[in-house]
Order: sequence, then C-alpha cells, then structure tokens
Amino acid sequence: MANLFHEVVDSRRTIRDFLPDPVPIEVLERCIDAACKAPSSSNLQLWEFVWIENQDKRKEANKICLNQGAVKTAPVLLAIVTHRSNWRRNRNEILRIFKSRGSIRPTTHRYYSTVIPFIYTNGPFNLLGFWKPLVGRLISFFRPTPSLHTQTDVRVMSHKSTALAAATLMLALRAEGYDSCPMEGFDPWRAKKLLNLSSQSEVCMFLAVGKRSPKGLWWERILMPRTWTYRKI
Ligand SMILES: Cc1cc2nc3c(=O)[nH]c(=O)nc-3n(C[C@H](O)[C@H](O)[C@H](O)COP(=O)(O)O)c2cc1C
Repeated sequence: MANLFHEVVDSRRTIRDFLPDPVPIEVLERCIDAACKAPSSSNLQLWEFVWIENQDKRKEANKICLNQGAVKTAPVLLAIVTHRSNWRRNRNEILRIFKSRGSIRPTTHRYYSTVIPFIYTNGPFNLLGFWKPLVGRLISFFRPTPSLHTQTDVRVMSHKSTALAAATLMLALRAEGYDSCPMEGFDPWRAKKLLNLSSQSEVCMFLAVGKRSPKGLWWERILMPRTWTYRKI
C-alpha cells in the first residue's frame, strides 16, 4: 500500500501538453468524490468543482487562463472554486447528519452553533471585523487563541481547504492514469464573471486534466534540499 501511494505521488507531475483522448466521466466523478474526502477546516467543505464543458465557455476559460499550453490541449478543464459564504448551509447539513445519526456531542453542537458563526460573521456593517482581531491579539497574550477573525482569515481558511481538495484530486487522477496541470495563472475577475460567482466566492485554481503527451513534461522534478524543508525543534 505504501509503495502504491509513493508511486502515485512520484508520478504526479504538472503536465503542460495533453493527448486529445477524452477523460471518461466516471473516472472524473470518481476522482472528484475522492477529492471531497480531503480534510477541511471544521469539515465545512466549502469547495465546488466546475467542469467547463460548454465549448463557448471553454474558449472563454482558455483565454482567462492566458491560453497556457496545458489549457489549450487538455480535454477537460475544471475550475476549483471556494465558496466561503456556504458555511451556514454546510454547517446546517453537518448538524442535520449528526442528528439523523441519533446523537451529537454537546461540545460539537456548541462548536457548530456558536463558534462557527462567530468565526464566519462580523455583524452589521462589519463592526466585529474591526474588534475581533484586536481582542483576539490581546487574549493571545494570556492564552493560546486562533486567529480566525477577519474576512482575510476566513478567505485564507477556505482557500487552504480547497487547495487540499485540489491536491487530492490531482493524486486521484494520477492513480487512475490521468494527468493534470494546476493553474493560478488566470484572470480572477473574468473567471468570477464566467462562472457567475458571488463576491464571497473565488476560483482557487483551474485544473487542466487529460493524458500526458510526449511533450507534456517540461523538466525533471526539482526539489529543495531536505534541510530547507524540514527541521526539528
Ligand atoms: C497553486 C498552484 C498554481 C500553479 N499555477 C500554474 C500555472 O498557472 N501554470 C503552470 O504551468 N503551472 C502552474 N503550477 C504548477 C507548478 O509550476 C508545479 O507544480 C511546480 O513547478 C512543480 O512541478 P510538479 O507539479 O511537476 O512537481 C501551479 C501549481 C500550483 C500548486
């Protein structure tokens, strides 16, 4: 099992030129289901995978992704979106599932009914948005306090979890014999318009998907020295 895992991790590379072979929908959906099992902050799963299948929209998306080689040749293009405003809907779903299972720990219930709304909302006119970080910083002098107060904190939080789902998706695709190219080289304003996203939703990254062509891998893997990436204290 460990060997299989390392084989998938080692063979996943960013591919920038794809064969025209289609990606079967069942493969794509199986991999998206796997991606949805990625860990997420408070298990809120604030992500969405949008397959840009419509040809006119795809042409526009290619332009939005700067017509990079990967996007020009990939048979499938996904937008991986993070919707931080879906916290309430998803929180309610979590509570509903817990209740349908018959029991919920009181601490878990309290967490989802009081702590999560406190993190994700800032009151009328964003009033709490100003005070929450100040109070949080003060409290942190006396006891450990997470910094989950501002809209920026929430934004970072939702992108972090969505990027983990994206990484899981890339590995799942590789395990099925498919390749991908994650892209943050795109115009975020035009992407929002194309996908009809609200102000609280953003594309985390685009993902070109397909089978690698012989020209797809641009160079051997480059890794930083172990001493730069790992230490003990
Ligand atoms: C968030 C993110 C954004 C990226 N954006 C682009 C991009 O716009 N275009 C591109 O060709 N590669 C992009 N890459 C791919 C990286 O360049 C690539 O992962 C890195 O060079 C390491 O290569 P490897 O993935 O083959 O190991 C991106 C990767 C990540 C994680």
